Amino acid sequence: MTIRLAASAIDQAAALLRGGELVAFPTETVYGLGGDATSDDSVAAIFAAKGRPRFNPLIVHLSHASQAEIFAQIDSRAALLMQRFWSGPLSLVLRRAPLCPISLLASAGLETLALRVPGHPLALELLRAVGRPIAAPSANRSGRVSPTTADHVLSELDGHIAAVLDGGPCRVGIESTVIDLTGKTPLLLRPGGIAIEEVETLLGPLAAPSPKDAPRAPGMLASHYAPNVPLRLNATSIGPGEALLAFGPDFPSGAKEMRWLSKRGDVEEAAANLFGVLRALDRPEFTAIAVMPIPERGLGRAINDRLRRAATR
Ligand code: TXA
Ligand code: MG
Repeated sequence: MTIRLAASAIDQAAALLRGGELVAFPTETVYGLGGDATSDDSVAAIFAAKGRPRFNPLIVHLSHASQAEIFAQIDSRAALLMQRFWSGPLSLVLRRAPLCPISLLASAGLETLALRVPGHPLALELLRAVGRPIAAPSANRSGRVSPTTADHVLSELDGHIAAVLDGGPCRVGIESTVIDLTGKTPLLLRPGGIAIEEVETLLGPLAAPSPKDAPRAPGMLASHYAPNVPLRLNATSIGPGEALLAFGPDFPSGAKEMRWLSKRGDVEEAAANLFGVLRALDRPEFTAIAVMPIPERGLGRAINDRLRRAATR
């Protein structure tokens, strides 16, 4: 079902991505499961294809370092690292630019964004042909090891994505190093393809993330974006002053304001809308945001995980 595209079929791969489809592609580290980073629907489809029980923030891939400032705030440290290591296996977590067009779901609702310019000619050609930033986690099902050949990708994702662009085996074979530059001290979030020593030569010592940095550290995302207004989960009626986040065509009446996660009761559509509607309703005029029950199937599990974390802050 998933088509294997030859390296020469860049334009076909690019057209699929522009049309909102998912395409796995080679980078110098591992194969990425790519989707249009500016499309909530495409990003939701990435999580669905991976079978991720949680919305982990994804790395957004660019074709050139000069684009980074469109999406994120670049300080002198970031500029230094970008100049030295891009294109290459280094991802930088930065603050979003004020008008950043990248889906909030891509960064799991955070005000930050992980960016990288991959050091693989085919990946760069593809990114240029698409003309948009591409969100791409490693192209494996959740909990499996990262794929370094197109065959690995197909063995897990056949039928779940439109195509895989076959560029042969990946050169580096482990994922990019992830450095967080959103605080005063640079943090090493994930060791990877660029040696830490090389980064420290330029920046000085890197710190390890502490529990205090939980929102930034992979796997420690307990207090991700949480709204200021309390969330009330599994709501079947509306309390005084509450806003409603509805799922499905029928909903309780009486809310001060109402937004749909998905009118037709579709969990993937709900995932695509989740962070945007939470932000839209996060206003002090509401006593709480009442959230209707979301089924524990497919992306519903990740939505419920996220909602529980946001509610128990
Ligand atoms: O080498 C790579 O980086 C590969 C290729 C395809 O580029 N991609 C990759 O993506 O490994 P993924 O989604 O499997 O890993 C993303 C890592 C996670 O550990 C995630 O927590 C972290 O980057 N990350 C992404 N955005 C973040 C953010 N805004 N804040 C903190 N961590 C972030
Ligand atoms: Mg991965």
